[in-house]
Amino acid sequence: MKQSIFIVLDGIDGAGTSTHSKLLAGFLSLKGLKTYLTQEPSNSDVGKLLRTYLRDDNIPASVDALLFAADRVLHYHNDIKEKLEEGYIVISDRYIESSIAYQSSQSESISVDWVKSLNKFAEIPDLTIILDIEPKLALIRKSNKILDKFEDKLLLEKVRQIYLDRAKDEGYVVINTDDIIEIVQSKIQDIVTDKLINEGIQIKK
Ligand code: TMP
Repeated sequence: MKQSIFIVLDGIDGAGTSTHSKLLAGFLSLKGLKTYLTQEPSNSDVGKLLRTYLRDDNIPASVDALLFAADRVLHYHNDIKEKLEEGYIVISDRYIESSIAYQSSQSESISVDWVKSLNKFAEIPDLTIILDIEPKLALIRKSNKILDKFEDKLLLEKVRQIYLDRAKDEGYVVINTDDIIEIVQSKIQDIVTDKLINEGIQIKK
């Protein structure tokens, strides 16, 4: 019987993907499921390089797109795949939709299709949930931290629109995170629980 499933929380900076991924992992562990929480950029050498590039405006957008795809393929093949084979519920804080939204919003010459084709060696998740928030509110949440190069209101508006268009095309659930954390998290938990039940995965009541 299937025990593993690959879940992704994605969305613009400040939407709460990290907070909600952690809370979801805690919830699933309490429900008796083997749970593995991971994130992108990953801990691979390429992922570490990307963390430094997030503070560097001189990196061409095409290089970001190529490196994020390389990091993802490594992440999937060296980490996620193994955990799924061992029967874990894998939760990734960001995945392919981050590249589609962020990298294709950087330049006219970076199309959604090109980003998708770069990422074709990374498997598609079983469930992607998009967390959505107004860029203005997202940046208020980030206001006392050092901002990465993508954390700019106009850019985030473009990025957000791509996430919303993709959600419509792909049928992803979109959850507005401009609400108290517990309410948002309980909506996420309901969607994930339904998915687990549909996949025949047993969970504690
Ligand atoms: P975070 O660790 O705060 O989520 O920040 C990661 C940043 O990297 C965020 O600004 C989104 C960006 N990013 C991309 O541009 N493309 C990608 O494929 C991924 C995974 C992240």
